[in-house]
Amino acid sequence: MELYEVLKTRRSIRKFTQEKISDELLAKLVDVARYAPAAANVQPLKYAVVRGEMTKDIFPLTRWAKLLGERGTPQPGEEPTAYIFVMTDTKNSYNKEADASLAIENIVLAAWYEGIGSCILGSIDKPKIARLINMPQGYEINYAIALGYPAQESLAEEEQNGVAYYMDDEGVVHVPKRKLCDVMYFADEQ
Ligand SMILES: Cc1cc2nc3c(=O)[nH]c(=O)nc-3n(C[C@H](O)[C@H](O)[C@H](O)COP(=O)(O)O)c2cc1C
Repeated sequence: MELYEVLKTRRSIRKFTQEKISDELLAKLVDVARYAPAAANVQPLKYAVVRGEMTKDIFPLTRWAKLLGERGTPQPGEEPTAYIFVMTDTKNSYNKEADASLAIENIVLAAWYEGIGSCILGSIDKPKIARLINMPQGYEINYAIALGYPAQESLAEEEQNGVAYYMDDEGVVHVPKRKLCDVMYFADEQ
């Protein structure tokens, strides 16, 4: 896949096959996160990777696509096979939201390039997860990234009537994106 195709076709995936992602590939995804920009190059992030049995303890602590209702949550046999938790050093960070977001984007795009679906999860039980994953002292969890080989199709479409995403009768998710002409202008041509 070429770069622009990766950027445009990555969608949040919320149903996964149960094929495992290799440890090498999971490490490769975190490896590219290290190269993301970081305010003042402080690099305050660490990554906890969960795969195998512990994913079963994590899943009940995650919340999925409100807009899709019950069908948005992975059903038994569709759960993520891995998670990456992005954590920030609370005492050594200039802009934790931006740093974490940029690292996450590297991960989800590299994952998609490798054929792996992902969903960024902000709606998670952070205190319980922090205990489960043995979070290092002085860190906090920013977001989780749920990962797995996709068992769902999700398509971006030009916005027509609002930006609410939905699932059709075939289970395909449709994600409206605002049109380029609505989000961009050349400021020197006004
Ligand atoms: C900061 C952030 C937090 C998110 N949290 C959740 C979440 O808790 N549960 C979920 O199902 N999706 C979550 N998402 C995924 C968004 O719903 C999704 O990115 C959005 O609907 C656009 O769809 P797309 O990723 O397919 O382009 C989150 C996305 C971002 C950027």
